[in-house]
Amino acid sequence: MKDTIPQPYQPTEVKKIGAVLIQVLEKYYQECYQAKGRSVPELNPSHLIELAQSSLDNPSRSFAELAELALSLGHRLHDPRYMGHQVPPVIPVSALFDILGTAANQGAAVFEMAPFGTAAERAVIQELGKLVGWTAGTFAGIGTHGGTLANVTALLAARNIRYSKVWREGMASSSALKPAIMTSEDSHYCIARACGILGLGTSQLIKVPIDDRRKMDLFEARKLLLKSKEQGFDVFAIVGSACTTPTGSFDDLEGVAALAKEFKLWFHVDGAHGASFLFSERYKSLLKGAELADSLTWDAHKMLFVPALSTYLLYKNAEHSWEAFAQDAPYLFDPKDPQGLAEFDGGLRTFECTKGALSLGLWGVWSLYGKEFLASLIERAMESTKVFYDLLKASPDFEPAHVPECNILCFQFKPTSMGTDLEKLSELQFKIRKRLLRDGEGYITGTRLGGRYYLRVTVINPLTSKEHFASLMDKIRDVAPNLES
Ligand SMILES: Cc1ncc(COP(=O)(O)O)c(C=O)c1O
Repeated sequence: MKDTIPQPYQPTEVKKIGAVLIQVLEKYYQECYQAKGRSVPELNPSHLIELAQSSLDNPSRSFAELAELALSLGHRLHDPRYMGHQVPPVIPVSALFDILGTAANQGAAVFEMAPFGTAAERAVIQELGKLVGWTAGTFAGIGTHGGTLANVTALLAARNIRYSKVWREGMASSSALKPAIMTSEDSHYCIARACGILGLGTSQLIKVPIDDRRKMDLFEARKLLLKSKEQGFDVFAIVGSACTTPTGSFDDLEGVAALAKEFKLWFHVDGAHGASFLFSERYKSLLKGAELADSLTWDAHKMLFVPALSTYLLYKNAEHSWEAFAQDAPYLFDPKDPQGLAEFDGGLRTFECTKGALSLGLWGVWSLYGKEFLASLIERAMESTKVFYDLLKASPDFEPAHVPECNILCFQFKPTSMGTDLEKLSELQFKIRKRLLRDGEGYITGTRLGGRYYLRVTVINPLTSKEHFASLMDKIRDVAPNLES
């Protein structure tokens, strides 16, 4: 019998390759932490595709060679000079826990296909909901592959609850007025995308202006709500950002909740980035009012330092978690199941039919190192951002665009030689970012605020320190003079 097991399936092969994998990873992390040379490879897509293709054409290389190829030409998020998007250098062990789900291929949309994977997801959801401030047993949630999907799902539930015939009969049965969703100008683009997907149309997204701290202007929001009906809109949901993507600003969630109550709207909080601050006693007040939400999106693959994708969509009222989808698929989920296991089938609450055991990474590191360790990573990111802000403030040739509310910070390089032409300054920042990307020694991003380009960091690597910020500033000073014209 043993002879019939194909070699790639043999436990001894797994042992051999597993040992090599661990060695390759150890070397990779050591190299990343040294923060030397390129951390982003040359971004030459056709060359990279050619390299990737060569081993498909000729499968002769060893696992070590292939693994090293993939890692050496990847983006090194574990290099402390990485201050890029809201994608963390993961706690390495969380990736190993994820392997348990992928190696055993646990499909977590159906309880019986991933009993423990589903249980871990349930357990994590119970703890996250309690952190929001909800009472155990009253709320529910579902793991999704990403915050975008969670936001769409929440708004789908909101739509189906408000317009009870729409799921079966389509949008024509919704309302004489145009169903609409309200959010701030700075909310993530996936909220507009949701309007397209849900059949509302993106022009039925009412974007509220932001105030001087880039938060939803609640006075303007109320004015827009008061005149929404006469303008032909039936606003059924309002989305608060906790926080926004460009600058990490937290909407006043209590204020948004009050509007939701006054105008009978579904209140959704997009906490993809910021919900994790609930882990920290020091920073959880940023989320004040989240407990009033009907639904909340929470990406663990951002500020809980686990691999993508691991998102949780939480509903304050457990019953609402069934409303996004009304699907009959007796071969998968049988509500008449005598054991009552259908209740644990995630598939009834989520888009996906096959879905990964996406909680194992978080469940694993939480179980190993405790909630306090996750809180310490969050607090470290917050405090490092403050260090960078202070450095920028103290440097006459740099200007932060805002006081950071969390670990996202935008700024500009403003050498006196450039004068005060805002357009030219904007262009300079754009060129600086392109140049830094070309050199590949560390990584930052950029964004447009009020039409002008700003450099942008998300301080998310626990090893990033004052020296790395100072080196980044020096590097910008070095490259900028050649880019100014
Ligand atoms: C506020 C906010 N919402 C939603 C998303 C989308 O989440 P995901 O990338 O997990 O789909 C992001 C991603 O950056 C975000 O910042």
